Amino acid sequence: MSIVQKTASEIEVMRHACRLAAEVLDVVAPHVVVGVTTAELDRICHDHMVDVQGCIPAPLNYAPPGYSPFPKSICTSVNHQVCHGIPGERVLKNGDILNIDITVIKDGFHGDTSRMFVVGDGAKLIAKRLCAVTYECMWHGIVQVRPGAHLGDIGHAIQTHAQQAGFSVVREFCGHGIGRRFHEEPQVLHYGKPGTGVELVPGMTFTIEPMINAGKAAISELPDGWTIITRDRSLSAQWEHTVLVTETGYEVLTVSPGMPVPPPFVAGLRT
Ligand code: MF3
Ligand code: CO
Ligand code: CO
Repeated sequence: MSIVQKTASEIEVMRHACRLAAEVLDVVAPHVVVGVTTAELDRICHDHMVDVQGCIPAPLNYAPPGYSPFPKSICTSVNHQVCHGIPGERVLKNGDILNIDITVIKDGFHGDTSRMFVVGDGAKLIAKRLCAVTYECMWHGIVQVRPGAHLGDIGHAIQTHAQQAGFSVVREFCGHGIGRRFHEEPQVLHYGKPGTGVELVPGMTFTIEPMINAGKAAISELPDGWTIITRDRSLSAQWEHTVLVTETGYEVLTVSPGMPVPPPFVAGLRT
């Protein structure tokens, strides 16, 4: 399969799907409090996606080759969990950090976005710093996006910022083309060399979703077949947007009223 460039009408549908995905994060945000279970967060998101938005939660029963079907509607990855955490009876504690990753399907197209949340007011400085630096990493990647740029420019910008902060980039998972399929070409690595890799062309839609570890980059998979953790059990953070390559640069598609503001180095956000 090759890289799909979306038509103007497909982009309209993508924009809608992506905004709905971001809206789910706005809806769940006030529920991320001490004492809530990740299963309860899953239920809140599932009900909003299905009953309010008329969307399909893309993770539910998602089963790429070699994987068992994902059993829930969102991913919740806590503390040293890197990604693909399965919601369950785990109770969130003061100071936990948590990624919530939402992917909806609306009118045949996917929208994919995730944010970090800090539970209560007790998070350690390192945890808050990791979340903030990872957010900057995602945006350093996003601002590289324009026709003629290369995927390696994105990876390099992310890697440089993460490593300057003393953190490491997870290598086994990456951003991805997205559209009618959840995971399309190309793979968007969060490390790399400027000027290398696929050249960007208007109409491409892909995610940028760096996973950054406070300790070493190595990961392990839990026996549930999905949850990825840091091998050294250091904290891990991730943020994700779906972006469109426009004629002049980029458009972030997964925007919503409640999204955190971009860092100061981001010029103007088109919404
Ligand atoms: N949303 C994840 C991503 O950003 C993929 C989750 S797959 C699932 O690519 F099955 F775990 F939901
Ligand atoms: Co994604
Ligand atoms: Co995602």
